[in-house]
Amino acid sequence: MQNAVTNVQLNQHGQLRHFLSIDGLNKTLLETLLNTAESFIGMDEQPIKKVPLLRGKTIVNLFFENSTRTRTTFELAAKRLSADILNFNISTSATTKGESLFDTLQNLEAMASDMFIIRHPDSGAAHFIAKSVTPNIAIINAGDGRHAHPTQAMLDMLSIRRHKGDFSKLTVAIVGDILHSRVARSQIQALAMLGVPEIRVIGPKTLLPKNIELLPIKIFHQMEAGLSDADVVIMLRLQKERMQLSLIPSEHEYYQCYGLTKQKLAYAKPDAIVMHPGPINRGVEIESSIADSPQSMILKQVNCSVPMRMAILATVMSSYSEKSKPS
Ligand code: CP
Repeated sequence: MQNAVTNVQLNQHGQLRHFLSIDGLNKTLLETLLNTAESFIGMDEQPIKKVPLLRGKTIVNLFFENSTRTRTTFELAAKRLSADILNFNISTSATTKGESLFDTLQNLEAMASDMFIIRHPDSGAAHFIAKSVTPNIAIINAGDGRHAHPTQAMLDMLSIRRHKGDFSKLTVAIVGDILHSRVARSQIQALAMLGVPEIRVIGPKTLLPKNIELLPIKIFHQMEAGLSDADVVIMLRLQKERMQLSLIPSEHEYYQCYGLTKQKLAYAKPDAIVMHPGPINRGVEIESSIADSPQSMILKQVNCSVPMRMAILATVMSSYSEKSKPS
């Protein structure tokens, strides 16, 4: 059954017209994105790192929250597809003079933009904007509050597939601040959709959301049991900017219990890979020697960002052909 998000993000042909959430998509769509991203891998080694797929299109990066990886890799992805990309700087914009989000968007629409890439601190912001803008502008969710970060989840799926192959044989453990993590929510949905048989979350009770038992996961509070024989270990940052209360006794104590050290990683399979969406806090959720080790995929995830974001931009824009353009 299609939910509200699905109805907004797919057109009548089942194609992606916005990319707002993994929730509501399907395995075929995710595999198509993974395969399209694979076709772009290696482009950064070509003498001309560009294809003309989005020539003449105008994309606006609208980041209402800070970012290093997501904003820059979307910019690079758009440039590699030959689109024109504008980086809208909130801190120097008329937003500081009281202009509302709605009026800002209307002005950017009037500049004949084709796509907005939105990061916003409020959960549901990208979905709200997708319903508010004119029908010929595509919206990509680059992270909204603690709700979703679907493009991060997809580049993580690409990293896992490239290093581990078959999703149907994997045990994946996600460790840390699940409560505030939009990345974890999107990853769990993508892993389940792609057929991962065992998805575990590990963390203190205070950092797990209410109703977590409704998700297709196993819950652990101890690293030894949770990491046991895992193929993939995904570490998360403590999202202190979203914590209204003190949810852990201290960072030191958190590191003792949940920080990934050599000793704790030994509970996982010997060839387990370690992932982290970034930014990492060394000595809080991960030991430096692990972050910099051959088992660490952290920079390889960043390397997968550009081809995956190219795949998402190209796929969404292709659904805006004359035939399927929303009326
Ligand atoms: N992973 C991620 O979203 O990083 P940025 O906040 O730097 O974009």
